[in-house]
Amino acid sequence: PYDEETTEDYIFKIVLTGDSAVGKSNLLSRYARDEFHASSKTTIGVEFQTQSVIIDGKRIKAQIWDTAGQERFKAVTSAYYRGAVGALVVYDISRRQSFDDIGRWLEELRVHSDMSVVAMLVGNKCDLEHLREVSQEEGRSLAESEGMYFMETSALDSTNVHKAFQTVVTEIY
Ligand code: GTP
Ligand code: MG
Repeated sequence: PYDEETTEDYIFKIVLTGDSAVGKSNLLSRYARDEFHASSKTTIGVEFQTQSVIIDGKRIKAQIWDTAGQERFKAVTSAYYRGAVGALVVYDISRRQSFDDIGRWLEELRVHSDMSVVAMLVGNKCDLEHLREVSQEEGRSLAESEGMYFMETSALDSTNVHKAFQTVVTEIY
């Protein structure tokens, strides 16, 4: 039985990165609260949500950080990445530019975080098949060459959202 009084065994900090409007905040709200916002505004500063996960009988608190992809709203980078053990690097499968920018986000992640960070490349908005500009193969192949996990998700219809976060938490553990 879940005991609110007991503290968790581990706290894992996981960061979300990627261009503005790829759906980082909605991935987080879908995962943490099962909510989707069709007209969400750009994130200002840093927000985080925590989610408890039980793995092998251990209680893990996943503390997921979210900030704006837009440079002018972005919170101080080094503080954002400090102590992160996991990262979801997100692009929008219906917007080629957001995929082309992944290299930049990976560079930033590598400069500011530990080598051992568990990173997953996430192609979000896979519900927009008719508007697809990046194939699943391209995503998978980039992830492979960068030594990352890969998943296509939809915060709108919930495809793979839970699975993406769960995989990162499990691999950290
Ligand atoms: P910044 O905070 O500016 O960095 O943006 P963000 O990456 O947090 O994007 P956000 O979650 O605010 O989503 C941007 C827009 O895309 C919103 O209009 C969302 O409703 C929409 N959106 C997010 N995820 C999905 C998805 O999986 N499918 C579709 N069709 N739309 C999505
Ligand atoms: Mg946001």
